[in-house]
Amino acid sequence: MNFFDVINNRRSVRRFTDTTVPDEVVQKALDAATKAPNSSNLQPWEFYWCKSPEKKVQLAEACLFQGTARTANHLIVAVSRIDTWERNRDLIMQKMQATEPLSKDLHNYYYKIIPSLYRQDPFGIFALGRFLIFNIMGLFKPIVRRPISKKDLFEVVTKTTALACQNFMLAITAQGYGSCPMEGFDEKRIKKILKLNSNAQVVMVIGVGAPAPGGIFGPQFRVDPNLVIHQL
Ligand SMILES: Cc1cc2nc3c(=O)[nH]c(=O)nc-3n(C[C@H](O)[C@H](O)[C@H](O)COP(=O)(O)O)c2cc1C
Repeated sequence: MNFFDVINNRRSVRRFTDTTVPDEVVQKALDAATKAPNSSNLQPWEFYWCKSPEKKVQLAEACLFQGTARTANHLIVAVSRIDTWERNRDLIMQKMQATEPLSKDLHNYYYKIIPSLYRQDPFGIFALGRFLIFNIMGLFKPIVRRPISKKDLFEVVTKTTALACQNFMLAITAQGYGSCPMEGFDEKRIKKILKLNSNAQVVMVIGVGAPAPGGIFGPQFRVDPNLVIHQL
């Protein structure tokens, strides 16, 4: 399949057959997921590949027993995190420094700018500081105005994680299988199953399997491109 065949063949599959999808297929798609572009290369995602049959049933229940979740051969939970940036930043820096000394600009970016954007405190003092600084500086020059709050930061990490999910699903299609992303779930229950804290957000649960007959609901429909593509 060429790139556009993959794009055109990917559909949301609501019912799968009993066919086993080899682990290597999922592993390859997970590798593709982690190759996605991501904000400042901080890779704020996690993927929980649910292997235990017991946990799979619990997850399907938390996904409201949707057909996709019930019949999926594999269930993968994509999670975005606001608390892994410091660890990942240090790992990236170590890797970079192994080949050449860090430039002053890069050092400044990762050790001053990134912490000033990502750091949170329980009283919202950093958020207030960012709000004031962004709004005052923004009077004089164009600046990045977010993230301010914890909610904004979740938006940053979730945007990035969604791109990884798309890589994952396309990689599943490219290998001849089907998938379906789900946001129809009880996040509180999923977080309990996965033992996630308040610095994690469940972005999507993705079901993977071989599409069953009738498992794709009708032809793909998209609104007229003129409604959504604007040339200026
Ligand atoms: C973030 C997100 C959440 C979704 N949640 C669900 C879901 O909970 N259940 C479901 O059946 N489909 C879900 N879908 C699939 C969409 O309904 C589907 O992508 C859309 O109808 C277009 O169909 P297509 O993917 O076959 O092109 C979701 C898709 C996305 C991107």
